[in-house]
Amino acid sequence: MADGSPKTIATINFKGGVGKTTVTWCLGDVLSSMANDNVLMFDLDAQMSLTQAIALNENTGTLFDQFDKWYQKSLARKKTIFDALDAFTKTGQHFDFAVGYDFVYQISKQLHFVPSVEDLYWQELEVFDRDGVKDFVRRLLGKISNSPKLARYKHVLFDCPPSFTLLSYSVLSCCDLVLIPVNPDYFASRGVSLILNSLRLRIEPHPIPKIGVFMNKAKAQPNPTKETRFYMREVERVCQDTAQQQKINARFFKSYVRERVGIKRAITGGGVPTELVGDFQNLWKESIAFLNE
Ligand SMILES: Nc1ncnc2c1ncn2[C@@H]1O[C@H](COP(=O)(O)OP(=O)(O)OP(=O)(O)O)[C@@H](O)[C@H]1O
Ligand SMILES: [Mg+2]
Repeated sequence: MADGSPKTIATINFKGGVGKTTVTWCLGDVLSSMANDNVLMFDLDAQMSLTQAIALNENTGTLFDQFDKWYQKSLARKKTIFDALDAFTKTGQHFDFAVGYDFVYQISKQLHFVPSVEDLYWQELEVFDRDGVKDFVRRLLGKISNSPKLARYKHVLFDCPPSFTLLSYSVLSCCDLVLIPVNPDYFASRGVSLILNSLRLRIEPHPIPKIGVFMNKAKAQPNPTKETRFYMREVERVCQDTAQQQKINARFFKSYVRERVGIKRAITGGGVPTELVGDFQNLWKESIAFLNE
Protein backbone atom coordinates (compact mmCIF):
# COMPACT_ATOMS: atom_id res chain seq x y z
CA MET A 1 0.00 0.00 0.00
CA ALA A 2 1.08 3.57 -0.59
CA ASP A 3 2.82 5.58 2.15
CA GLY A 4 0.43 7.12 4.60
CA SER A 5 -2.15 4.40 4.15
CA PRO A 6 -2.57 2.02 7.09
CA LYS A 7 -0.58 -1.19 7.45
CA THR A 8 -3.05 -4.03 7.08
CA ILE A 9 -2.53 -7.35 8.80
CA ALA A 10 -4.72 -10.47 8.68
CA THR A 11 -4.48 -13.22 11.29
CA ILE A 12 -5.26 -16.53 9.62
CA ASN A 13 -5.03 -20.27 10.14
CA PHE A 14 -7.42 -22.95 8.94
CA LYS A 15 -6.85 -24.75 12.20
CA GLY A 16 -9.24 -23.71 14.96
CA GLY A 17 -8.25 -22.54 18.42
CA VAL A 18 -4.61 -21.62 17.67
CA GLY A 19 -5.14 -18.06 18.95
CA LYS A 20 -6.11 -15.97 15.91
CA THR A 21 -8.70 -13.97 17.82
CA THR A 22 -6.60 -13.62 20.98
CA VAL A 23 -3.52 -12.50 19.04
CA THR A 24 -5.50 -9.98 16.95
CA TRP A 25 -6.93 -8.42 20.08
CA CYS A 26 -3.66 -8.38 22.03
CA LEU A 27 -1.75 -6.85 19.12
CA GLY A 28 -4.45 -4.21 18.72
CA ASP A 29 -4.38 -3.46 22.42
CA VAL A 30 -0.58 -3.28 22.65
CA LEU A 31 -0.19 -1.25 19.44
CA SER A 32 -2.80 1.31 20.37
CA SER A 33 -1.14 1.98 23.71
CA MET A 34 2.52 1.43 22.78
CA ALA A 35 2.77 3.66 19.75
CA ASN A 36 -0.05 6.06 20.51
CA ASP A 37 -1.41 5.17 17.10
CA ASN A 38 -5.00 4.61 16.06
CA VAL A 39 -5.79 0.96 15.41
CA LEU A 40 -8.83 -0.45 13.65
CA MET A 41 -9.77 -4.11 14.18
CA PHE A 42 -12.24 -6.14 12.11
CA ASP A 43 -13.99 -9.31 13.23
CA LEU A 44 -14.60 -11.23 9.99
CA ASP A 45 -15.61 -14.48 11.65
CA ALA A 46 -19.34 -15.34 11.51
CA GLN A 47 -18.79 -17.15 14.81
CA MET A 48 -18.26 -13.68 16.25
CA SER A 49 -15.80 -14.65 19.01
CA LEU A 50 -14.12 -11.25 19.12
CA THR A 51 -17.42 -9.38 18.90
CA GLN A 52 -18.92 -11.42 21.73
CA ALA A 53 -15.85 -11.05 23.91
CA ILE A 54 -15.88 -7.27 23.41
CA ALA A 55 -19.61 -7.21 24.20
CA LEU A 56 -18.80 -8.97 27.47
CA ASN A 57 -15.99 -6.59 28.40
CA GLU A 58 -16.24 -5.99 32.10
CA ASN A 59 -13.67 -3.21 32.25
CA THR A 60 -16.26 -0.63 32.99
CA GLY A 61 -19.64 -1.67 34.30
CA THR A 62 -21.32 0.16 31.45
CA LEU A 63 -19.47 -1.14 28.45
CA PHE A 64 -21.73 -4.14 27.93
CA ASP A 65 -24.76 -1.89 27.64
CA GLN A 66 -22.87 0.64 25.61
CA PHE A 67 -21.70 -1.85 23.01
CA ASP A 68 -25.02 -3.64 22.90
CA LYS A 69 -26.94 -0.41 22.33
CA TRP A 70 -24.50 0.69 19.65
CA TYR A 71 -24.62 -2.74 17.99
CA GLN A 72 -28.42 -2.86 17.88
CA LYS A 73 -28.45 0.58 16.28
CA SER A 74 -25.86 -0.46 13.74
CA LEU A 75 -27.98 -3.52 12.83
CA ALA A 76 -31.18 -1.47 12.60
CA ARG A 77 -29.55 1.19 10.43
CA LYS A 78 -28.02 -1.43 8.18
CA LYS A 79 -24.50 -0.31 8.97
CA THR A 80 -22.76 -3.65 9.49
CA ILE A 81 -19.95 -5.23 7.49
CA PHE A 82 -22.60 -7.47 5.92
CA ASP A 83 -24.56 -4.43 4.73
CA ALA A 84 -21.35 -2.95 3.35
CA LEU A 85 -20.68 -6.15 1.40
CA ASP A 86 -24.28 -6.20 0.23
CA ALA A 87 -23.97 -2.62 -1.02
CA PHE A 88 -20.70 -3.45 -2.75
CA THR A 89 -22.08 -6.46 -4.59
CA LYS A 90 -25.18 -4.52 -5.62
CA THR A 91 -23.65 -1.19 -6.53
CA GLY A 92 -20.22 -2.35 -7.70
CA GLN A 93 -18.06 0.50 -8.96
CA HIS A 94 -20.20 3.14 -7.22
CA PHE A 95 -20.13 1.31 -3.87
CA ASP A 96 -22.69 3.43 -2.17
CA PHE A 97 -22.02 2.97 1.57
CA ALA A 98 -21.17 5.82 3.95
CA VAL A 99 -18.80 4.95 6.83
CA GLY A 100 -18.83 6.70 10.20
CA TYR A 101 -19.05 5.82 13.88
CA ASP A 102 -22.26 3.93 13.26
CA PHE A 103 -20.12 1.44 11.34
CA VAL A 104 -17.00 1.66 13.56
CA TYR A 105 -17.25 1.19 17.34
CA GLN A 106 -14.81 3.07 19.59
CA ILE A 107 -13.55 0.66 22.24
CA SER A 108 -11.12 3.25 23.54
CA LYS A 109 -9.71 6.50 22.21
CA GLN A 110 -7.26 4.74 19.92
CA LEU A 111 -8.66 1.25 19.51
CA HIS A 112 -11.64 1.03 17.16
CA PHE A 113 -13.61 -1.95 15.99
CA VAL A 114 -15.84 -3.24 13.19
CA PRO A 115 -17.82 -6.17 14.61
CA SER A 116 -19.04 -9.28 12.88
CA VAL A 117 -22.64 -10.31 12.23
CA GLU A 118 -24.24 -13.71 11.98
CA ASP A 119 -25.40 -12.89 8.46
CA LEU A 120 -21.82 -13.40 7.30
CA TYR A 121 -22.40 -17.07 7.86
CA TRP A 122 -25.19 -17.18 5.28
CA GLN A 123 -23.27 -15.07 2.87
CA GLU A 124 -20.81 -17.93 2.51
CA LEU A 125 -23.55 -20.24 1.34
CA GLU A 126 -24.66 -17.98 -1.42
CA VAL A 127 -22.88 -18.15 -4.69
CA PHE A 128 -20.83 -15.05 -5.27
CA ASP A 129 -18.53 -14.41 -8.13
CA ARG A 130 -15.10 -14.64 -6.46
CA ASP A 131 -13.67 -11.75 -8.40
CA GLY A 132 -16.83 -9.77 -7.80
CA VAL A 133 -15.93 -9.50 -4.09
CA LYS A 134 -12.16 -9.36 -4.41
CA ASP A 135 -11.93 -5.58 -4.20
CA PHE A 136 -14.49 -5.18 -1.42
CA VAL A 137 -12.04 -4.83 1.48
CA ARG A 138 -9.67 -2.61 -0.48
CA ARG A 139 -12.51 -0.29 -1.45
CA LEU A 140 -13.92 -0.30 2.08
CA LEU A 141 -10.51 0.64 3.52
CA GLY A 142 -10.32 3.42 0.95
CA LYS A 143 -13.65 4.77 2.20
CA ILE A 144 -12.47 4.55 5.81
CA SER A 145 -9.20 6.35 5.01
CA ASN A 146 -11.05 9.12 3.19
CA SER A 147 -13.85 9.56 5.70
CA PRO A 148 -13.73 12.96 7.40
CA LYS A 149 -15.80 11.42 10.21
CA LEU A 150 -13.33 8.71 11.23
CA ALA A 151 -9.89 8.68 12.84
CA ARG A 152 -6.80 8.20 10.69
CA TYR A 153 -5.74 4.61 11.29
CA LYS A 154 -2.11 3.59 11.34
CA HIS A 155 -2.83 -0.14 11.58
CA VAL A 156 -5.76 -2.28 10.49
CA LEU A 157 -6.05 -5.81 11.89
CA PHE A 158 -8.39 -8.54 10.62
CA ASP A 159 -9.45 -11.51 12.71
CA CYS A 160 -10.26 -14.20 10.12
CA PRO A 161 -12.32 -17.38 10.53
CA PRO A 162 -10.76 -20.86 10.58
CA SER A 163 -11.93 -21.41 7.02
CA PHE A 164 -11.37 -19.75 3.69
CA THR A 165 -14.30 -17.42 3.07
CA LEU A 166 -15.04 -14.80 0.47
CA LEU A 167 -14.13 -12.13 2.98
CA SER A 168 -10.81 -13.76 3.75
CA TYR A 169 -10.17 -13.88 0.01
CA SER A 170 -10.93 -10.19 -0.24
CA VAL A 171 -8.65 -9.39 2.73
CA LEU A 172 -5.83 -11.59 1.50
CA SER A 173 -5.85 -10.00 -1.91
CA CYS A 174 -5.09 -6.57 -0.43
CA CYS A 175 -3.40 -6.94 2.97
CA ASP A 176 0.28 -6.17 3.61
CA LEU A 177 0.99 -9.08 5.93
CA VAL A 178 -0.59 -12.38 6.89
CA LEU A 179 0.17 -13.59 10.40
CA ILE A 180 -0.24 -17.31 11.01
CA PRO A 181 -0.16 -18.39 14.65
CA VAL A 182 0.71 -22.04 15.27
CA ASN A 183 0.91 -24.00 18.51
CA PRO A 184 3.71 -26.27 19.73
CA ASP A 185 2.17 -29.58 18.76
CA TYR A 186 2.40 -32.30 16.18
CA PHE A 187 -0.13 -30.56 13.90
CA ALA A 188 1.82 -27.32 13.63
CA SER A 189 4.21 -28.18 10.81
CA ARG A 190 1.61 -30.18 8.83
CA GLY A 191 -0.88 -27.34 9.19
CA VAL A 192 1.67 -24.78 8.02
CA SER A 193 2.46 -26.63 4.84
CA LEU A 194 -1.27 -27.04 4.19
CA ILE A 195 -2.10 -23.39 4.72
CA LEU A 196 0.87 -22.04 2.77
CA ASN A 197 0.06 -24.26 -0.19
CA SER A 198 -3.61 -23.46 -0.19
CA LEU A 199 -3.10 -19.71 0.27
CA ARG A 200 -1.08 -19.64 -2.91
CA LEU A 201 -3.59 -21.76 -4.81
CA ARG A 202 -6.49 -19.63 -3.71
CA ILE A 203 -5.00 -16.19 -4.17
CA GLU A 204 -3.28 -16.74 -7.48
CA PRO A 205 -3.05 -15.14 -10.00
CA HIS A 206 -3.11 -12.17 -7.61
CA PRO A 207 0.09 -11.39 -5.70
CA ILE A 208 0.47 -13.22 -2.39
CA PRO A 209 1.16 -11.00 0.63
CA LYS A 210 4.13 -11.53 2.92
CA ILE A 211 3.43 -14.28 5.42
CA GLY A 212 4.79 -14.41 8.98
CA VAL A 213 4.36 -17.65 10.90
CA PHE A 214 4.96 -17.61 14.64
CA MET A 215 4.53 -19.79 17.70
CA ASN A 216 1.67 -18.93 20.04
CA LYS A 217 1.14 -20.77 23.35
CA ALA A 218 4.88 -21.43 23.48
CA LYS A 219 5.73 -23.33 26.63
CA ALA A 220 8.45 -21.17 28.15
CA GLN A 221 9.46 -20.29 31.71
CA PRO A 222 10.81 -17.88 30.47
CA ASN A 223 12.81 -19.65 27.73
CA PRO A 224 11.13 -22.16 25.39
CA THR A 225 11.20 -25.76 26.62
CA LYS A 226 13.01 -28.44 24.65
CA GLU A 227 9.69 -29.64 23.21
CA THR A 228 8.62 -26.15 22.10
CA ARG A 229 12.05 -25.58 20.53
CA PHE A 230 11.64 -28.85 18.64
CA TYR A 231 8.30 -27.73 17.15
CA MET A 232 9.72 -24.30 16.35
CA ARG A 233 12.52 -25.89 14.35
CA GLU A 234 10.05 -28.17 12.57
CA VAL A 235 7.77 -25.30 11.59
CA GLU A 236 10.72 -23.16 10.50
CA ARG A 237 11.97 -25.95 8.24
CA VAL A 238 8.53 -26.46 6.67
CA CYS A 239 8.18 -22.69 6.17
CA GLN A 240 11.52 -22.44 4.42
CA ASP A 241 10.87 -25.45 2.19
CA THR A 242 7.35 -24.45 1.24
CA ALA A 243 8.32 -20.82 0.65
CA GLN A 244 11.06 -21.95 -1.69
CA GLN A 245 8.94 -24.50 -3.54
CA GLN A 246 5.94 -22.21 -3.86
CA LYS A 247 7.95 -19.05 -4.42
CA ILE A 248 6.17 -17.16 -1.69
CA ASN A 249 7.61 -14.75 0.83
CA ALA A 250 6.86 -16.73 3.99
CA ARG A 251 9.00 -16.69 7.11
CA PHE A 252 9.02 -18.23 10.53
CA PHE A 253 9.44 -15.51 13.16
CA LYS A 254 11.95 -15.72 15.97
CA SER A 255 9.53 -13.98 18.30
CA TYR A 256 6.85 -16.07 19.98
CA VAL A 257 3.99 -15.59 22.41
CA ARG A 258 4.14 -17.65 25.59
CA GLU A 259 1.31 -19.70 26.97
CA ARG A 260 -0.23 -17.90 29.93
CA VAL A 261 -3.64 -18.56 31.44
CA GLY A 262 -4.16 -14.85 32.15
CA ILE A 263 -4.53 -14.18 28.42
CA LYS A 264 -8.01 -15.74 28.52
CA ARG A 265 -9.35 -12.57 30.12
CA ALA A 266 -7.40 -10.19 27.88
CA ILE A 267 -10.41 -9.30 25.73
CA THR A 268 -13.11 -9.38 28.36
CA GLY A 269 -11.44 -6.80 30.56
CA GLY A 270 -8.16 -8.15 31.98
CA GLY A 271 -6.06 -6.58 29.21
CA VAL A 272 -2.88 -8.20 27.91
CA PRO A 273 -1.11 -9.80 30.90
CA THR A 274 1.84 -7.56 31.80
CA GLU A 275 4.35 -10.35 31.34
CA LEU A 276 3.14 -10.90 27.74
CA VAL A 277 3.23 -7.26 26.59
CA GLY A 278 6.90 -7.69 25.60
CA ASP A 279 6.03 -10.82 23.58
CA PHE A 280 3.54 -8.84 21.49
CA GLN A 281 5.91 -5.90 21.14
CA ASN A 282 8.59 -8.26 19.81
CA LEU A 283 6.11 -9.90 17.44
CA TRP A 284 5.20 -6.46 16.18
CA LYS A 285 8.82 -5.32 15.74
CA GLU A 286 9.59 -8.42 13.71
CA SER A 287 6.42 -7.95 11.62
CA ILE A 288 7.25 -4.34 10.81
CA ALA A 289 10.88 -5.16 9.98
CA PHE A 290 9.64 -7.87 7.59
CA LEU A 291 7.10 -5.49 6.07
CA ASN A 292 9.74 -2.84 5.52
CA GLU A 293 12.20 -5.16 3.76
N1 LIG B 1 -0.79 -17.44 24.51
C1 LIG B 1 -1.83 -18.10 25.02
N2 LIG B 1 -1.75 -18.67 26.26
C2 LIG B 1 -2.79 -19.35 26.80
N3 LIG B 1 -3.98 -19.51 26.18
C3 LIG B 1 -4.13 -18.99 24.95
C4 LIG B 1 -3.08 -18.25 24.30
N4 LIG B 1 -3.54 -17.84 23.09
C5 LIG B 1 -4.81 -18.29 22.98
N5 LIG B 1 -5.17 -18.98 24.08
C6 LIG B 1 -6.48 -19.63 24.36
O1 LIG B 1 -6.73 -20.60 23.33
C7 LIG B 1 -8.13 -20.65 23.05
C8 LIG B 1 -8.36 -20.38 21.57
O2 LIG B 1 -7.96 -19.04 21.27
P1 LIG B 1 -8.68 -18.18 20.14
O3 LIG B 1 -10.14 -18.19 20.31
O4 LIG B 1 -7.98 -16.87 20.11
O5 LIG B 1 -8.29 -19.06 18.87
P2 LIG B 1 -8.82 -18.89 17.38
O6 LIG B 1 -7.73 -19.40 16.52
O7 LIG B 1 -9.31 -17.54 17.15
O8 LIG B 1 -10.06 -19.91 17.40
P3 LIG B 1 -11.16 -20.09 16.22
O9 LIG B 1 -10.51 -20.97 15.20
O10 LIG B 1 -12.30 -20.76 16.90
O11 LIG B 1 -11.48 -18.75 15.68
C9 LIG B 1 -8.79 -19.60 23.94
O12 LIG B 1 -9.28 -20.23 25.10
C10 LIG B 1 -7.64 -18.66 24.32
O13 LIG B 1 -7.82 -18.04 25.57
MG1 LIG C 1 -11.18 -16.89 16.37
